[in-house]
Amino acid sequence: MQTTATRLAAAPVTLRGVGRAFDAHTVLDGIDLDVAAGEVVALLGASGCGKSTLLRLVAGLDRPTSGEVLIDGARVEGIDPRAAVVFQEPRLLPWRTLSENVAFGLPDGGSRAERRAEVERALDLVGLAAFAGYRPRAVSGGMAQRTALARALVRRPGVLLLDEPFAALDALTRLRMQDLVDDLQRAAGATVLLVTHDVDEALQLADRVVVLAPPQPGAGSGIGHALDVPGARPRDRADPVLAALRVQLLDRLGVPRHQP
Ligand SMILES: Nc1ncnc2c1ncn2[C@@H]1O[C@H](COP(=O)(O)OP(=O)(O)O)[C@@H](O)[C@H]1O
Ligand SMILES: [Mg+2]
Repeated sequence: MQTTATRLAAAPVTLRGVGRAFDAHTVLDGIDLDVAAGEVVALLGASGCGKSTLLRLVAGLDRPTSGEVLIDGARVEGIDPRAAVVFQEPRLLPWRTLSENVAFGLPDGGSRAERRAEVERALDLVGLAAFAGYRPRAVSGGMAQRTALARALVRRPGVLLLDEPFAALDALTRLRMQDLVDDLQRAAGATVLLVTHDVDEALQLADRVVVLAPPQPGAGSGIGHALDVPGARPRDRADPVLAALRVQLLDRLGVPRHQP
């Protein structure tokens, strides 16, 4: 696998007073968040609290009903070329090869040879160079998700948006994928917004963890809690400091600690 990734032009992300309502149902309300260029922020929250909605707003796949989203100081007005998204499912075209699927992530332009080189580079980054000609059905779930990651990376995004990207994978594959994203992020320096409901994943990968508080009656979710995760990455999964933070975050999510 290639180890020296070309550094991406990491971009800061700003949310100012962002709200999103679907008819009378307010999902998000008054979200203020600044993500620095190259920072990894994990967005944690219970199912249905609006995590995916928030990520879609940053990607430009949806528009806020109030407030604004900025990438690198410029307002997000539609699907944004500066951002790339990886979803929980790989969303690959089954009749296309892995490299053809990755090529879908490429912006327009460039010669055929350049485009091919970009796709090869992205597949190499996720360790799939040898599988370029395979079809999605012929590879494992983890490999399919790595292909989705390559399709996002081939855009050389300033902002990488990950919506529970490992949630559908088995536990061991999930840990390996976490390490891969950690390695790639440290090599390339992209700004990352990682949506997850997994406290350990958030503490492993993020510089900062932001908890979306559950929606209140008549109002949407807002930011309930935020903490900086100490220690340089890659982090030791057995670090007792992380264990203490885990308890604190679970408490915020309404999961009490059981002490003997
Ligand atoms: N397009 C939509 N139309 C109506 N309601 C929606 C739409 N998208 C999301 N919602 C609602 O917004 C809430 C939050 O959804 P979502 O952002 O997917 O939560 P999470 O990702 O945290 O599980 C849910 O109640 C969901 O039903
Ligand atoms: Mg979601």
